[in-house]
Amino acid sequence: MPKVTFKDDDLTVECEQGANLRDVAQNEGASIPFGCEQGICGTCLSRVPAGDENLSDMEDQEKETLAAMGAEPGERLICQCRVEGDVTLESAH
Ligand code: FES
Repeated sequence: MPKVTFKDDDLTVECEQGANLRDVAQNEGASIPFGCEQGICGTCLSRVPAGDENLSDMEDQEKETLAAMGAEPGERLICQCRVEGDVTLESAH
């Protein structure tokens, strides 16, 4: 099973292949904040220092929001990601 590491919380958990990353974060009590949960508000923006390739590809909505926010490469909207393999997340700010 894929492992998800939340660096800010010093927390590593396992989840189902294809799991919604927002669900994993919320169910495990990670400190990533969420707002709209639809890839619009940008509240859940996080840096992905490792395993970016193991997250689902970006949909247009996420790309639009990241561009509007001036997000850096390697940052994702966690509410829009599915987990396909091991990944590490940390706060973007
Ligand atoms: S919670 Fe709004 S973009 Fe993820």
